[in-house]
Formats: sequence, structure tokens, C-alpha cells
Amino acid sequence: MAEPHISVLLNENRIFKPSKQLAENSNVNKWMASHGISSYEQLLKKSQDIEWFWGTVSKEFVEWYSPPKKVLDWKLPYSNWFVGAKYNIVHDALDRHASRTPNKVAYYFEGEPGDMRAITYKQLSDEVSRLANALKRLGLKKGDRVSIYLPMILELPIAMLACAKIGVAHSVVFSGFSSLALADRINDCGARILITCDAFWRRGKTVQLKVQADEGVRQTQTIEHVIVVRRTEENAPWVQGRDLNYKDLIATESPACETEKMDANDLLYILYTSGTTGKPKGVLQRHAGYAVNIALTLSWVFDLKDGDIWWGAADAGWVTGHSYIVYAPLMLGTTSIIYEGAPDWPEADRWWDIVQRYKVSVFYTSPTAIRMFMKLGTEWVKKHDLSTLRLLGSVGEPINPEAWIWYHENIGGGRCQIMDTWWQTETGAFAIAPLPIADLKPGSAVHPLPGMAAAVYDESGKPSPAGQGGNLVLLRPWPAMLGGLYKNPEKYQDTYWAKYPGVYLTGDIARVDESGFYWVQGRADDVLKIAGHRLSNSELESSLVSHAAVSEAAVVGKPHEIKGESIVAFVVLKQGSSPSEPLRKELREHVAHDIGKIAQPDELYFVNDLPKTRSGKIMRRVIRKKVVGEPVGDISTLMNPEAVAELDNKT
Ligand code: WTA
Repeated sequence: MAEPHISVLLNENRIFKPSKQLAENSNVNKWMASHGISSYEQLLKKSQDIEWFWGTVSKEFVEWYSPPKKVLDWKLPYSNWFVGAKYNIVHDALDRHASRTPNKVAYYFEGEPGDMRAITYKQLSDEVSRLANALKRLGLKKGDRVSIYLPMILELPIAMLACAKIGVAHSVVFSGFSSLALADRINDCGARILITCDAFWRRGKTVQLKVQADEGVRQTQTIEHVIVVRRTEENAPWVQGRDLNYKDLIATESPACETEKMDANDLLYILYTSGTTGKPKGVLQRHAGYAVNIALTLSWVFDLKDGDIWWGAADAGWVTGHSYIVYAPLMLGTTSIIYEGAPDWPEADRWWDIVQRYKVSVFYTSPTAIRMFMKLGTEWVKKHDLSTLRLLGSVGEPINPEAWIWYHENIGGGRCQIMDTWWQTETGAFAIAPLPIADLKPGSAVHPLPGMAAAVYDESGKPSPAGQGGNLVLLRPWPAMLGGLYKNPEKYQDTYWAKYPGVYLTGDIARVDESGFYWVQGRADDVLKIAGHRLSNSELESSLVSHAAVSEAAVVGKPHEIKGESIVAFVVLKQGSSPSEPLRKELREHVAHDIGKIAQPDELYFVNDLPKTRSGKIMRRVIRKKVVGEPVGDISTLMNPEAVAELDNKT
């Protein structure tokens, strides 16, 4: 819930102007010139005619099999874009480049041990077609679902694209998630096939992904085959008949496969994301609107040109990778980097070494990573020539001005603008972000992008005055807007559309300053952002209470110097169990096993009681205030105010 008055803690007034050269040569500037638009302000204004705007740009970013009859069909809360068009995103991501620029490198892959592979658009297209043909041979058809549980290796985009090519929806599960998390997602979407690998490299060791995948699949009923990529020389367990070796499977397949002509609003993927309840939500994305929106935003915000080397240093298990490592860069015919391993392995300069060796020109990462490198010291950065960089980006969580300035000076050499992109799994594409023609203020995502309409509302649904915090909302539909939640229309309605009629609730708190700059402050609801990764408090709590010793649990976030937030858990034990160090360790490991290592509580305390409302609801808000050392306010309406005092001894 938004606080009535969220005060401005930090006034950041420095302004960073783009160079004349950057602004004048930018893709967005050229577009403005060719459409008779003379200023940024005019662009923002004119693009509020969303049907004109998206209809116009769609012609420049996608090639239809047959054109749409209507730009937008908006039946609150569902939008259908480019209605009547026949389309497949794989046509723009692969087919057209494979024939026109076959020898251009699509990806430079670097494994953690140092192995490298460059794959051209033609080679990528051939391999995608081989896998697509194999999937068809296994009986998959349009409308089916495939789960993908792979680390950052080339077979991850290949698997996604192969599904999309034949009209099968993919559901990628982040390789850092546990077997149980995998099983939940497979069960929800009813996947027929799982694509995974034997193991992968992380910090010099191998992670046994196939062992986890097998454990997950055992708890599901719909998987017919598991396709296994060999990444290491490990002997992964094997289920005869069910498991298929990726290499053998595609060896005899033809490198030609016709791309399925889909309806514009047919399903492209399901990506599960954490919300306020224990069960992850399956966010739906469709082919056409998504394609137009992600291609435009990547081209305009990061200004990619033919010779650029783009590195979005995220994992394709999250939306950032779906949109801006896989689909949009390929649509723009870009050369991108994919790196498998840890950023600081074997030494703290691995990333900067990669930037130098591949001559990366546009680089995109998270505030958590920036803060980690800040802490490691500038000597690691100084060892490398980063002069090829021309633009930088940030995503996933608010970037504090200190980290922004460090990034600007030390990575960007004082010459690169920083594109702080605000968006969500649900928005599919950047929603609030600067353009190369914009002035920047460190820590601000600047303005809503062209075609986007945002506002900050107070509790009653009125726009908050300048400088005052409130709920960040989006006022009009946009092409990459989620197509709903998989098999859960009620939750879709309740989560995003119930608070303010006709307006999309983002779940974030933000403020708009006097000059119209947006400052996103963090989540308003019970969603944690740990190192930029989205987790739900109640998901973690469900895991804790599923342990035999636990009767109740509350999980809250606490500000953390590097990760943005850390996880603090309070646990009430069942009769017969008593607090101990081994039990604390066991509970932390229990959560890691249930959800994944990223969800492991940093701190875990045993308490006798948790503050509750009279109806018995645990008051996370009060607990969080205690944890961060803020006044808890009036607690007289609680059922058990004494439980608040008990927290004192723990924090
Ligand atoms: C947060 C990640 C501040 C925000 C792309 C949002 C940000 C949630 C920013 C979505 C940013 C993302 N500044 N906060 N530039 N970008 N967020 O679905 O709270 O993993 O609602 O998508 O991340 O997380 P998700």
C-alpha cells in the first residue's frame, strides 16, 4: 500500500546532456526528422495518438505476412494489437537476416571456462530450423507448450526461437530456480517437452542441472520427452526412452523449416513471475505487438546501429533476456554477446575483459552488478580499454545516484549517457526510459517513452502533486502489454485493474518532479527485488511453513548496500521444536531447495509470535518498519501489540 506522503529523501539535481553528435545521429532523431517532428516534447505529445504512432512505427520495424486490418482493439482489460495480421516474430528475428545478411554474427558466445563460439545469422537460422523440425517430428504442434530450463548458452535462444518458429509457446525457467519451481511451472502450463542440459559452469564448478531437471520432472505428468544439451563432459543421469540427446536429435534434420504463419495475437511465450501471492503468475506475450514494441524501444533507447556490439548482461531466464537478448536484438540484426558465467570469475575484471576483447559498444546491466563492481574497486576496470563503449544502460531496480555516477565515470569514461530503463515482465518492453536526445538526472528513468502514458496516483486516484510519491500507473494500452495471466483471468483483473478503474497498476511507488522526470522508488506491494530479481514475500513464507518445524513465517526486505534488498525472515516454531543454529541453517537451505539459492534468507530469526491484525493477518508492514528502524506508528489495532516489542531483540 502506498504511504500517503512519501517524502523525497534525496534531491538529485545534476543534469547530463547528450552530446550534439549522439542526439543528432540518433535513430529517434532521424525518425523525427522524417515525420516532421521537431522536438522531444512534440514527439511525446504526438505519440499520444497511440493508434497513429504504433501503426506508423509498425511499418518500419516488422514485415507482415499479411498486414493488419486494425491497429488496436481495446476491450478493457484486454488489448489486441495489429488485428487481422498474419505474422511470426521469427521472420523478423531470423528469416529475413538469414537471407539478407547471412554472414553477420548474431551472437558471440563465451563460456565461463573461456571457450568461444561465434554464430552467424545463417548458422543460427539453420540450427533453429533443425530443432524446430525435430520438435515437429516429436509431435509438437501449434498451441503446445515447451518448458526450457537452460543456462546462458546458445541453445537457450535457439530453443526459444525453434518453439516460436512452429507456433509452440515456450516457458523458460531460470536455471537458478530449484526443481520444485520448475515442476510448478511445468504443471501450470502443461508442457509436453522439457529442454535442458547436463550441467553448466558457475564459479569454476559445474552445476548439475539435469539432476535438478529430473527431480522436477518426477513431480509432473505432462512431459513426454526431455531434450538434453551436452554442455560439459559430465555423466548426467539418463532416462532411457524419455531423454533425447540434443545433438543426435537434430543431426539428421533439415536446416529448412517453414515459419508458421501465426495470427498477430497468438501466444509467443509464458513467463512466470512473482506477484503478491505464493503462486507465480504466467505472464502471456503474443507475437505481433510484442515484436513492434521491443524492436522500437531497443532501436530508439539504445540507438543500435549496424556496427554496434550489444551486450545485455542479464539471463534469458528473466524478461530482460527474452526481450533484449533474444528477440529485439535479433530483430534489429544486431551482433550480441552471451556470456555463461559469473561476472567476477576467475577475477574481478571478467566483464571488462569481455567488453575490451569483443569491442562492446552498448552495455546494459543492473544496479546490483554496478554496486558490486564499485565495491571491488576501480583498479579492475582500469586494467582494460573500454573506449569502444558509447552508451550504457541500467535495469531491474532503482539505481542510486552514487552508483549512477560511478558507472558514468568509471565504465563510461564520463562520455556515455546512461539509459535507466523502467519496465516489468508485464510491460514486455521498456516503458519509462530516456532517449539519446534527453537530458538525464542520475537516478531518474526520465520520461515515459513515446506511445506510453504514465502517471503517479494518490490513494483516491488523483494525480499526485509534483515531488510527491504515489502509485505508478499506466493509462493507456501499449503493444507489448501482457495478454493476461495463463488460465487466471480473475487474478489478472485483481492484480492490475482493480485499484483504479481502467488504469493499469504497476505495483511500484514513484514520483514525478517539477520538470516531469520520473523517479521510481521501489515496490508498493509485497514483492521483493533481490539483486534485481523478483521474488514474492509470500512465496518465501509458504516455503518456510512447509518445513515440519515451522508454524508461521514472515519475510520482509531490508535495504542492502549491493543487492538493493536483502531477505529477513521471522519464524514461529511448532510446539516441540526449539530454536537452534542447525535448524536456522536447515531452514535457509530449505528455502534454497524449494525456490532457488537467490531466495535464501540472509537473516533468519526465531520469534514466539508475529504481529497480526485482529483478523489474524500477519502485518508485514509493521515488521518491515521494525527491520529498517522506522517508527511503526499506531499498533493499537493489532491483535497482539506485544509481538512488535519482541522483534526489537532480533533486529
Ligand atoms: C523494478 C524487470 C526502478 C520495478 C525488467 C518493477 C525498476 C520490477 C527498474 C519489474 C528501474 C525494473 N528503476 N525499478 N529502471 N526496472 N524495476 O518483472 O519494481 O523482473 O516493477 O522486470 O522491477 O521486475 P521484472
